[in-house]
Amino acid sequence: MRAVDIIIKKRSGLELSREEIEFMVNGFTKGEIENYQMSAFTMAVYFRGMTDNEATILTKAMLNSGDVLDLSKIEGVKVDKHSTGGVGDKTSLVVAPIVASLGIKFAKMSGRGLGHTGGTLDKLESIPGYNISISEEQFIKQVNEIGVALVGQTADLAPADKKLYALRDVTGTVESIPLIASSIMSKKLASGSDVICLDVKVGSGAFMKNEEQATRLANLMVQIGKNCGKKMTAVLTNMDEPLGFAVGNSLEVIEAINTLNGKGPKDFTELCLTISSYLVLNSGYAKSLEEARALCIRQIENKEGLNTLAKLIHAQGGDESYIYDVDKFPKAKYELEVKIRKAGHVSRIDALAIGNAAMYLGAGRAKLTDKIDHSVGIVLKKKVGDIVKENDTIATIYSNKENNDLEIKTILDAYSVSNDAIEPKLIIKVIS
Ligand code: URA
Repeated sequence: MRAVDIIIKKRSGLELSREEIEFMVNGFTKGEIENYQMSAFTMAVYFRGMTDNEATILTKAMLNSGDVLDLSKIEGVKVDKHSTGGVGDKTSLVVAPIVASLGIKFAKMSGRGLGHTGGTLDKLESIPGYNISISEEQFIKQVNEIGVALVGQTADLAPADKKLYALRDVTGTVESIPLIASSIMSKKLASGSDVICLDVKVGSGAFMKNEEQATRLANLMVQIGKNCGKKMTAVLTNMDEPLGFAVGNSLEVIEAINTLNGKGPKDFTELCLTISSYLVLNSGYAKSLEEARALCIRQIENKEGLNTLAKLIHAQGGDESYIYDVDKFPKAKYELEVKIRKAGHVSRIDALAIGNAAMYLGAGRAKLTDKIDHSVGIVLKKKVGDIVKENDTIATIYSNKENNDLEIKTILDAYSVSNDAIEPKLIIKVIS
């Protein structure tokens, strides 16, 4: 077999065999296929696409390129969730404790944030002492004991994807639906859960800019998961504004805590309840979606979700007293109000721009080696659908630097205002 023949076959729009896809992935992982040939291959996939069967084979080849976690030592059904990346997305911090407090095992490995989207690990590290790097043995023990662990990658999961993603990033081949689907699903499947809920974001702050593309991506990921024996759901959600009010690490943790106290933003609470309900339903802990949702609401009302978050923080070395007293989180030095100059109905808040403004403040990384300032960020005061008058405060900036002109301008530019009333829609559709 020769790489060049496989590239030409894909370039001609033909379906590749298992052997051909495995030849490309294994050869590239071992360094036997050069970057230039793999670049040509990914570009051919970008233009010609892949069938569901090819994408499943590609996923499995990448999944088998490294460690696959054996969660069989964890009793019961194991669940996981994944978001394709949004701004203000702290959903795992709420969903994991709600679901775990019902006795369902939530074993999650998360990534760090890069660019305008924040990572769950960075948010958790706002809590002093929280340790994201526990051993695989401790990970399994902790999930068995308290039902939940949120950690960084402990094993060498899907190294083929790591290498391929780095190449796609510099060859203009990130935005390919089969390549994104196989990249995400190879890592999700390698981390061993039985039930998975995917949150596929649509809009300016997301990879998928429109509903049609997002639907194709969601359908493909659900199909790949099902082909591998998993119970799958994908929720398509709007990223035409940030999720909730808070963007920035400790600010988002505080918002997650407020949500577990029943005082969360409407859109964010709705998304957390939706994802939690599908995980509960698909684990067999409820007979209907309505019953699952009622159970999740109960875990907020009786504070069991909040108490489970405190247990998680404690188990991973963090100071759980922060969960019960959010005033303990360090404050940024400067607090600035951003005032709008237009009046009308807020019709859109460019999530990408708000994410970038938070990154300029130091809440995110422009490159992986950048250090994060956990105390800084933005809290939106007006969301899509709200009415604004001239000079209304639309956001508060929490900053540790004196000059915030760039951030103020970026936030102002992010807001679109129209004369017509707008009804925001967060959950676009659910695919299972
Ligand atoms: N996230 C991933 O993990 N992979 C992609 O290709 C895109 C988003």
